[in-house]
Amino acid sequence: MWLGEKVELAAIKREYLPRYVEWLNDWEVARYLMPGMPQVMTLESETEWFDARQKDKSSFVFAILGLPEKNLIGNCGLHNLDLKNRCAVFGIFIGDKNYWSKGYGTDATRTLLRFAFEQLGLNRVELEVYDYNPRAMRAYEKAGFRRDGTRRQALFRDGDFHDIHLMGILREEWKTS
Ligand SMILES: CC(C)(COP(=O)(O)OP(=O)(O)OC[C@H]1O[C@@H](n2cnc3c(N)ncnc32)[C@H](O)[C@@H]1OP(=O)(O)O)[C@@H](O)C(=O)NCCC(=O)NCCS
Repeated sequence: MWLGEKVELAAIKREYLPRYVEWLNDWEVARYLMPGMPQVMTLESETEWFDARQKDKSSFVFAILGLPEKNLIGNCGLHNLDLKNRCAVFGIFIGDKNYWSKGYGTDATRTLLRFAFEQLGLNRVELEVYDYNPRAMRAYEKAGFRRDGTRRQALFRDGDFHDIHLMGILREEWKTS
């Protein structure tokens, strides 16, 4: 369990899965997520993911609990853990839209970066964000990420092509941010 100012990052419990399925089938949330979307999520597919996670050594995924109530509000994690180069890929979603734009995402990002740099000893954390997601970019910038580059028109979504921006933060930048 990792404590931030507005969130706690906790182990994912099986009982959380129906909520995740509900959120990942909400296009207002899922339109910002991975390029493989849209795909209909089911409790079965989410349970398979959860069971596979127990053996997955290349990622760390946490439930985001909003403080002080400790309500489940989303999920975040580090993926594609590369121990040779000491880097990983960051991902996050807050599924409960009542919690958007209130600082919870920035705090979850900062808390997970602390885990990445202080506990895993990583040197770099990176992510991809779509050009129509200024809220996420702002949250990442506040947490210390910088723009590394752009994959132009790499995403086709909602009838149009969109740029995918690459952002990253280095250990030395995190220390001073
Ligand atoms: C992206 C996400 C994690 C950000 O978390 P959050 O709690 O909503 O964001 P925060 O409140 O911490 O920070 C958002 C910032 O963007 C600003 N913002 C909100 N909407 C904005 C917009 N349309 N344009 C520019 N800035 C915007 C907010 O004002 C805030 O900045 P400020 O503190 O300087 O005022 C969350 O909104 C989310 O999960 N969204 C859906 C899924 C998603 O986009 N996942 C990320 C995929 S890369």
